[in-house]
Amino acid sequence: MKAAGKGVGVAFAIMMTIAVRGGVDLDRLVADMTIREKVGQLNYLALFPWNVSGMDGMVDSVKKGEVSGFIWGVPPNPVLRNEIQRAAVENSRLGIPLFFGRDNIHGAHLTFPIAPALAGAFEPELFKRVQEVSAMESRAEGVDWVFAPMCDTARDPRWGRVQETCGEDPYLNSLCSAAQVRGFQGDDPSLPNRVISCPKHFAGYSSVTGGRDYQDSEVSEWQLRNLHLPPFRAAIEEAGALTVMSAFNTYDGIPAVANRFLLTDVLRGEWGFKGFVASDWGSIHELLGWGIAADVREAAEMSLLAGNDLDLAGGVFISNLVAMVESGKVSPSALDCAVMRILRVKAAAGLFNRPYVDEMSMERVWRESRTANAALARECVRKSAVLLKNEGGVLPLDGKRLRRVALIGPFADDRVEMIGAWSGRGEPSTVVTLAAGLRTALPGVEMDVVKGCNASSKASTKTLEDGTVVAEDSGADADLFDVDRALAAAKEADVVVFTIGETKGVTGENQSRATLGATGLQQALFDAVASLDKPIVSLIFAGRPLALNEVYDRSAAVLYCWQPGSEAGNGLADLILGKESPSARLVISVPWSVGELPCFYNRPATGRARNLDGYYQDMPKRTSRFPFGYGLTYTAFEYSDVSVDGDSASATVKNVGRCEAIETVQLYIHQTACREGWRPIRELRGFRRLRLKPGESVRVSFSLTDDVLGYTRRDGKRICDRGEYRIWIARDSSVDGKDGVVYVR
Ligand code: BGC
Repeated sequence: MKAAGKGVGVAFAIMMTIAVRGGVDLDRLVADMTIREKVGQLNYLALFPWNVSGMDGMVDSVKKGEVSGFIWGVPPNPVLRNEIQRAAVENSRLGIPLFFGRDNIHGAHLTFPIAPALAGAFEPELFKRVQEVSAMESRAEGVDWVFAPMCDTARDPRWGRVQETCGEDPYLNSLCSAAQVRGFQGDDPSLPNRVISCPKHFAGYSSVTGGRDYQDSEVSEWQLRNLHLPPFRAAIEEAGALTVMSAFNTYDGIPAVANRFLLTDVLRGEWGFKGFVASDWGSIHELLGWGIAADVREAAEMSLLAGNDLDLAGGVFISNLVAMVESGKVSPSALDCAVMRILRVKAAAGLFNRPYVDEMSMERVWRESRTANAALARECVRKSAVLLKNEGGVLPLDGKRLRRVALIGPFADDRVEMIGAWSGRGEPSTVVTLAAGLRTALPGVEMDVVKGCNASSKASTKTLEDGTVVAEDSGADADLFDVDRALAAAKEADVVVFTIGETKGVTGENQSRATLGATGLQQALFDAVASLDKPIVSLIFAGRPLALNEVYDRSAAVLYCWQPGSEAGNGLADLILGKESPSARLVISVPWSVGELPCFYNRPATGRARNLDGYYQDMPKRTSRFPFGYGLTYTAFEYSDVSVDGDSASATVKNVGRCEAIETVQLYIHQTACREGWRPIRELRGFRRLRLKPGESVRVSFSLTDDVLGYTRRDGKRICDRGEYRIWIARDSSVDGKDGVVYVR
């Protein structure tokens, strides 16, 4: 076995110290447990509004020691949480505390921009600060375990869960994943402002065929090791994550939840992971659906023996394992091993010491956090909206010269859409909408806010004989195609700010899309407004890259806002009015069309790459519409003198524009020949954020270390070969046609 990483050792030491400090002798505890109580620790239930009526039965099971904890899906209620906990701590034979978990992914109460937005800040430390706030707010609610970060590296925007990921690059994703774990757990996850983190979904989930959620994901081991595993490895080895969630998909024919290679050989054997693995929701039972297990008993056995310790919302372990252990079908030591892993994490969370939550403090903590951290949420919005286009420098708007603004589209004054999918306890009533943010920032300017249409409408439009476009549907949504008001407002305005995108309802889990256009009647509304000769600043709200070619072509400026969270309006107003220049970059390529998907920048080098003008007869361009790493600022930067001296690559970066801004300088590499397998045509392996004043220039250097140049072999070893590499220091990944600087190691 390989020596485990620093984080793993530290994590294990933390678990042991806290268990001892908590005065709990876990070996003794396990020795005292009956088989049923042991299996009970592997049984995690969901408490959601729809099964709350069965709560009495659940509490009875808690008293019998048959439940390990709950996914807290009901409204936040520390009193209820304590009541259930009391059943475990004071009314069960051994008093083992329950463990409460939740998907507080981009914020608990205060909502931050979603992961692909925050990752675009290219500032992992920002992610850490965000998850520190989320951890503190989660604990106040009584949540000890958060199902985040999502470490899946995602390349196909048809997959709705792109909304939860840090995008298509494993290097950036690794840094963001580790930073999030540090934010959640800190140095001591037993503290009242920390939670246990659960990197997910292990592994390969994001490569589901055709972007269709819950389907097969047949990646090669080469790709698994170099694309999918690095962020998990960073979360575990470097940041010391104490739990991991296995994925829904198959890897090499076997669903992850029963995949011994993933859960035991790699995770524990190679990486030395000491925490526990939880299944994803009901996925042990799904082994039957996959046609892998013949019945639930077999499913339980396969999963436990593969290394999956906790049955999340499935009930398969509790109904089968007791008899199987009693009959000798499953060895008692396999059960003990899983129980011990779970109890150690409960101890690390401080639950044996402090099982209850302060019933009076949640509202206060959330309120105070809102006041204290609104500035951070606003900073996150500023650092995560990507400027895709700015023709003629239409942005920033000049507040002093503006007379009238038309703010059009369904996201203009919407609170619910701003907090996005997977929004934890995000509270729409506290959201600052774009209209509110702009009104505050532009007190003397007339603002016509016209919703124009409903983003979630299923209606279509038709054109009447006189050329007027109306909604086809005569149902409830028809009157929401308010093109006349939108046109009237636009005609009167100096500038149109048009909000367009997809509803949060079509993003996230089980929300795959076959088209990547704007939802509802938005495109028709945009086309109507774009036919006027007015400058349009388009703001796109989405959970994935959308192929909105008309919008990209016909707008003067485009700002990709993702799902920005509670401080949406304030942060976006800061950018629109130039209080700060945009600095974010795309972490996932924006395609021209759905037919070219998946399209990502770090594609394999191929045998005939240089003979092709394009991949498709009907689509000449080989690059995406906007590539990974792309994003404009309000100034311009010039790169010169890219060179390699010794083992270091450098470039001079100069602000040649008119205002101060942050430039994200990116280091890309390519290994010319690698005997083990293909290397991507380029890979991000470093970046630096520089704040430069007009005229200011800086020489930026990157060390070309083994870590920067290397890759992971099929045996799990990271290595760096001798030989030739190409090096680019650039604004983004679109370095097609440029050969880079040669570096020989
Ligand atoms: C999702 C996980 C989530 C879990 C618990 C599952 O359906 O795939 O990402 O953490 O539910 O809510």
